[in-house]
Amino acid sequence: MSSERLRAKAEEIASRAGREADSCASAQELDALRVRYLGRKGELTALLREVGTLAPEARRAAGDALNRVKEELAARLTVAASALAEERAAPGPGRDLTLPGRRPPVGRVHPLTQTTLELLDVFRHLGFAVHEGPEVELEYYNFEALNTPAWHPSRDEQDSFYLAPGVVLRTHTSPVQIRVMERQPPPVRMVAPGRCYRRDNPDATHAVMFHQIEGLYVDRGVTFGDLRGTLEEFARETFGTATRARFRPSYFPFTEPSAEMDILCVGCRGEGCRMCGHAGWLEVMGCGMVHPAVLRAVRYDPEEVSGFAFGLGIDRVTMLRYRIDDIRLLTENDILFLDQF
Ligand code: PHE
Repeated sequence: MSSERLRAKAEEIASRAGREADSCASAQELDALRVRYLGRKGELTALLREVGTLAPEARRAAGDALNRVKEELAARLTVAASALAEERAAPGPGRDLTLPGRRPPVGRVHPLTQTTLELLDVFRHLGFAVHEGPEVELEYYNFEALNTPAWHPSRDEQDSFYLAPGVVLRTHTSPVQIRVMERQPPPVRMVAPGRCYRRDNPDATHAVMFHQIEGLYVDRGVTFGDLRGTLEEFARETFGTATRARFRPSYFPFTEPSAEMDILCVGCRGEGCRMCGHAGWLEVMGCGMVHPAVLRAVRYDPEEVSGFAFGLGIDRVTMLRYRIDDIRLLTENDILFLDQF
């Protein structure tokens, strides 16, 4: 093809493409058109390739001319695209501007976090300050300072994930008691929420990671009566005024005496049902009077002050509140499940 013929052909193609662009009704159609003419295998692109076959002296002028045609067409397509976009945005027939907008999906607070925040609120109203401690904990804080030396049999059921000698993923929130008491003289009235880890086999009620709220009140003359009054008030605030709490003797190395607090089953009100394993009562926390050895470990004088402590299972309370029958649902991150709360 001669160089004149190439130019004439290019102009003809470009003006045809321009006319077609004006009659495109959508961005997609316009895109297809761009590909058809200017794409790698496009008509105009093919013509440009032919410039290489011209005599060397003619190539430059022909190349310049064809490139100009190509750029003009590209610009024309861009103008056509923005005209289409504007038209779409403008009100007109077929566009009902009174339709309600589309609601963007909004996330929500995880049920465990909802429960935690509400429980902390209850304790805040009872005068407890909120503290936090590390999940990666020294063995000293997790066990020794809590009157649980290495030989202690109660370590067996808690023996947990060690990260290094003397460093463990905390098995409960109780080490926060020690950290807070080390930092301040009595009185202390604190709660500490957080994650805990145990080497349990996962099932409907056990998970290797779970959540607790620790509580501690140390002052002159704190009695078991204060423990009961405080925790019963907590139970009423959390489970309603019709709830009943009972205390069963138990054992923890860091409290003496120790107890488990049960509440009347929220499923059957004591009749016995699947939720409570037909016991009529549900265990919600361990508690007791702070052991003198714990007070001594933080240089408090057990002759001067006394206190009570408790450790409450947040997962447990969440499951009771929402009638969730498998603890694992809480950490599977299943949006359909989480969306219900
Ligand atoms: N730390 C105990 C546990 O995890 C609970 C507890 C806390 C008991 C404080 C008594 C006092 O089982």
